[in-house]
Amino acid sequence: MLLKQLFDTETSTFTYLLVDAASRDAVIIDPVYGQMQRDLDALKELNAELKYIVETHVHADHITGAYDLKQATNAKFAAGVGTGLTCGDALLAEGEVIHFGHEVLHAIPTPGHTDGCTSYRWRDRLFTGDTLLINACGRTDFQQGSPENLYNSIQKLLTFSDDYIVYPGHDYNGLRISSIGQEKQNNPYIVNTSKEEFIEKMNNLNLPKPKKIDESVPANLRCGNARIAA
Ligand SMILES: [Fe+2]
Repeated sequence: MLLKQLFDTETSTFTYLLVDAASRDAVIIDPVYGQMQRDLDALKELNAELKYIVETHVHADHITGAYDLKQATNAKFAAGVGTGLTCGDALLAEGEVIHFGHEVLHAIPTPGHTDGCTSYRWRDRLFTGDTLLINACGRTDFQQGSPENLYNSIQKLLTFSDDYIVYPGHDYNGLRISSIGQEKQNNPYIVNTSKEEFIEKMNNLNLPKPKKIDESVPANLRCGNARIAA
């Protein structure tokens, strides 16, 4: 199996390219608008054919690169069922999977940051989107955010064993990967934090509105088609 982690410096977003080593069928998770050539080059370098474009959620901080990639490759688009997206090819519910070659990507609904947030598991690797970040978690103050749901979703991810690797949707501190064990030990939103304390903390973050939310959310609700007026 092959895995490439790509990073968009403008939005600190991770994109993941997963390739079945035998068939060279590939899945991309959370591509970023404007990075298509980078992604196509990575596919070429790995001699891979893109079969699926998968989103962890409807992003507020950047437009997905899904639309352009789909036009360029004819790959299918999938997201979590909770997104309610009508522009894609598949909406994945709990336990549903995507096959690429001999490999399987499992959908794990993890609402809280948004209603439609879905994490994905590939072997012992978890792609956690904005549900579980390294020493952090996604915010819950817009897009149907719910601290209580996010708490439950993080607890759900923590049921995986300590050696599962965590690949987050973003990192703003130069970190790349983590593990369930490391997050249990170090994440200030997890360590010694009751559900009540978590909710209190999330409700008092007082973060500024994401710069690109007004353009990103409408375009992402169209699966990344940024060319139609909202
Ligand atoms: Fe997000």
